[in-house]
Amino acid sequence: MGDASFDPQRFFDSFPRFVETSETGPWRERLNARYFALVHTHRELLRGARVLDLASHDGRFSFAALQNGASRVVGIEHSAALIDKTYENLQHYGVPRDRYDFVLGDLFTNIERVGRCGVVFCFGILYHINNHMLLFSKIAALEPQYLILDSRISQLDGSVIEVRSPLGASPPPLGGDIESQPSRAALEAMLSYFGWKFEYFDWSGSGLAAAKHLSDYRAGSRVSLLVTCNEQRTPLEVRERAVQAVLDQQQDRQTQWLTIKDVASRFGLVPQALRFWVRQIETEPTPGAGRKE
Ligand SMILES: C[S@@+](CC[C@H](N)C(=O)[O-])C[C@H]1O[C@@H](n2cnc3c(N)ncnc32)[C@H](O)[C@@H]1O
Repeated sequence: MGDASFDPQRFFDSFPRFVETSETGPWRERLNARYFALVHTHRELLRGARVLDLASHDGRFSFAALQNGASRVVGIEHSAALIDKTYENLQHYGVPRDRYDFVLGDLFTNIERVGRCGVVFCFGILYHINNHMLLFSKIAALEPQYLILDSRISQLDGSVIEVRSPLGASPPPLGGDIESQPSRAALEAMLSYFGWKFEYFDWSGSGLAAAKHLSDYRAGSRVSLLVTCNEQRTPLEVRERAVQAVLDQQQDRQTQWLTIKDVASRFGLVPQALRFWVRQIETEPTPGAGRKE
């Protein structure tokens, strides 16, 4: 693993099972170009990192991270059939079993189980959900150093989130799914809220988008970004002191959010992340951490 004995422009030519098990965008050229932009470009960041792969599908990008030296990958995927394919694929390519785990279920409910990780992959999922801020908050609570994002974006003008029914029905049927795509400006506003810095992958300049089946990247309706979240993690002791400060200073649950914002700004923390750490203590009290005497 991680010996990079493959052509980075044609990664999936060496691992063709993923082209067969892919249920979305299954074209080899597309997968190869996305591999280059999303994984190869960031290989230095992946070396030795714990990676979380949100919406891991058939495990293609989890596997790619491991091939580039990630120490361990955890994926979350809500299709049982795709989780089965993932295990078959990684076993087939001889990945040691202790290097990966895949959680079957909704990413919103399972992300908190993952624990700290250095790099989060958020590929092809943002436009399937409708609560981006909640997802980013949950990612922030994991304190990754980097988030790599790949998403379709709305082409509407301004800082907007375009809400759509995946089936194109308008209005969507009762109980039907709702998806939403942020515009570029809306995505940037949300990332900036967390104090994260970002840089777009230059699909046009790279020449990769000229290939077949990449018209969305070519047209700019799909973008890829490297988001730098935290150069340094919050020391555990600072985190515990901040949680304790919230528990000590809050008057009641109704005003807790105001207290969290105040404490977060004093400690230089992201309020949404602090809120998750407070919730963790409230639901799973551990000795000495944020406990009121
Ligand atoms: C467009 S595919 C993207 C796959 C892969 N990440 C990529 O970029 O090539 C979206 C994947 O997200 C999964 N998915 C959608 N909503 C999900 C959710 N709420 N929780 C977990 N997985 C989800 C789907 O089953 C599918 O495998």
